[in-house]
Amino acid sequence: MSQIDEARSRLLKGDVVAIPTETVYGLAADIASEAGLRRVFAVKERPFFDPLIVHVDHVDKAKALTGQWTEIHQALANACWPGPLTLIAPKLPNLNPLITSGLTDVGLRCPRHPLTLELLKGFEGLAAPSANKFGRTSPTCAEHVQQELGAEVLILDGGPCQVGIESTVAAVVKEGQRWKVLVYRPGFYTAAALHDLLENVGLPTETSYAQSPVAPGQLEHHYMPSIPVLVGEKVTTPELLSAATKKLKKNFLRPTQLHLGEDATLAARTFYQSLRDLSPDHDAIVVMVSELHRKDESWRALMNRLFKAASFRL
Ligand code: TXA
Ligand code: MG
Repeated sequence: MSQIDEARSRLLKGDVVAIPTETVYGLAADIASEAGLRRVFAVKERPFFDPLIVHVDHVDKAKALTGQWTEIHQALANACWPGPLTLIAPKLPNLNPLITSGLTDVGLRCPRHPLTLELLKGFEGLAAPSANKFGRTSPTCAEHVQQELGAEVLILDGGPCQVGIESTVAAVVKEGQRWKVLVYRPGFYTAAALHDLLENVGLPTETSYAQSPVAPGQLEHHYMPSIPVLVGEKVTTPELLSAATKKLKKNFLRPTQLHLGEDATLAARTFYQSLRDLSPDHDAIVVMVSELHRKDESWRALMNRLFKAASFRL
């Protein structure tokens, strides 16, 4: 049996399977399987209040799961799928409430990975959060998934993830008579990029960052590796270490520095991998953030993940 056949048969039986995507690896369950959905939460130790993203291989399948798919949803899907954008839309009533944590909206995305697109052909949709224990660093290769979740989960090995951080999450909401796009989680696609894509197809739409009024996932701490990440913004490394020592009441004897460099795409691709690689041999990861990192739009998503992964910032 091929790996994909094995994955399909496990999913149909209500088991979970780790799947590759261009962003990070996901832990998938068939949206039609209550047992599978429950297993996702159990394996991840994820609280039920954090909704799952439904993955599909075609925009028509996404549309079929929603009660309202606007021309803005359609235009963004046309421009970005398969790719690192999750679109929020009102869900159909019969969709299992475990997926949406009881919310009336559902997150949908078509990932860009040939193995996963092939697997998705046989399903209405696969619900998949990132394949890590809740709150921890997302896995960007099969080996990470194994470290996180152990041997009992089947992993479809699709190689290292190209984007390296989670998808942009965007909702299309009506304010008065006007539609707006709200970006709840920054990712590869910035708010400005989504705005431009819409403008290019004759749908100029106000697009901005916002906190989701109902959904979570946007907890202050998230993506944390096993040792503290210390982030310095306008200080020197010794100043940062000494302040962190006081605040966290720990002496850092083996700190190491993670350099982000100047290329945001490359930095995102390797960020989670670096956090994992550096953890075993050190007792703190120091990241110095420059003016460029803080101000340039292309760094927004990575800064968001870095600040959530941080135990201390100065
Ligand atoms: O790149 C990704 O999106 C990866 C890969 C596996 O596709 N998945 C991922 O899933 O990052 P997860 O569960 O780690 O993050 C999903 C986040 C939730 O925490 C929440 O913030 C948002 O997506 N989300 C999902 N459904 C939502 C909804 N109905 N309304 C608002 N936000 C939602
Ligand atoms: Mg996650």
